Amino acid sequence: MRIDVVTLFPDFVRDCCRYGIPRIAIEKGLLTLGTWNPRDFSAERNRRVDDRPYGGGPGMVMQVSPVAGAIAAARRQGDGPVIYLSPQGRRLDQRAVRRFAGLAHTILLAGRYEGIDERLIEREVDEEWSIGDYVLSGGEPAALVWIDSVARLQPGALGDEQSALRDSFMDGLLDYPHYSRPEVIDGQRVPAVLTGGNHAEIERWRRKQALGRTWRRRPDLLAQLELDAEQQALLAEYIAEQQSTDSDVSP
Ligand code: ADE
Repeated sequence: MRIDVVTLFPDFVRDCCRYGIPRIAIEKGLLTLGTWNPRDFSAERNRRVDDRPYGGGPGMVMQVSPVAGAIAAARRQGDGPVIYLSPQGRRLDQRAVRRFAGLAHTILLAGRYEGIDERLIEREVDEEWSIGDYVLSGGEPAALVWIDSVARLQPGALGDEQSALRDSFMDGLLDYPHYSRPEVIDGQRVPAVLTGGNHAEIERWRRKQALGRTWRRRPDLLAQLELDAEQQALLAEYIAEQQSTDSDVSP
């Protein structure tokens, strides 16, 4: 897939993609990254791209013309949607990430200052997405979150193909706990089932932990799922185990 990022900080975006999975995806040719700086499309001698907001108030607003110029250049690289990253957008989740990961081309628009002139958004933007209900000083970290989450879903990007399928959220649940050596640290022991070698039991334990964690930490996610009979039984078992450990420690 190809991702073109419209940003005032192209070096920042490129540098951050030189690590981990985005780097591997780029090296393997699974991901092509382009960056387009609105300053290169400014008609002003000082490469200015912003001005004061009509109506007054703090901060500066990115102007239509330089951003439109950068988007036009990015559009010549493919026919994908223009995605504007802003706190006003829909909240990004793994379902959306899966959809975006299947696109051959995407243009990400990262804003700065107080925002971008609304007329640019009306004209050029296909979708507006947020990475969470908090405000960043610019869209670049959000664009990088977007790039990382879709890069790792490109077939061949992860060493073990299974690991993306097993991720949190792939089936609407949180991930189960993971352990590695040593088997005991300061008396804390790896759950016995994981060292017993019974793979069916291990899978069952993991499914139960994923359900139990989601029940405890994210009941909102669980409420959106229809658990099958086996999952209901596993969750009931988890809850019963929790209650018995709770009563073990109660005075
Ligand atoms: N730009 C600033 N804050 C943002 C957020 N929460 N998500 C996406 N883009 C942003």
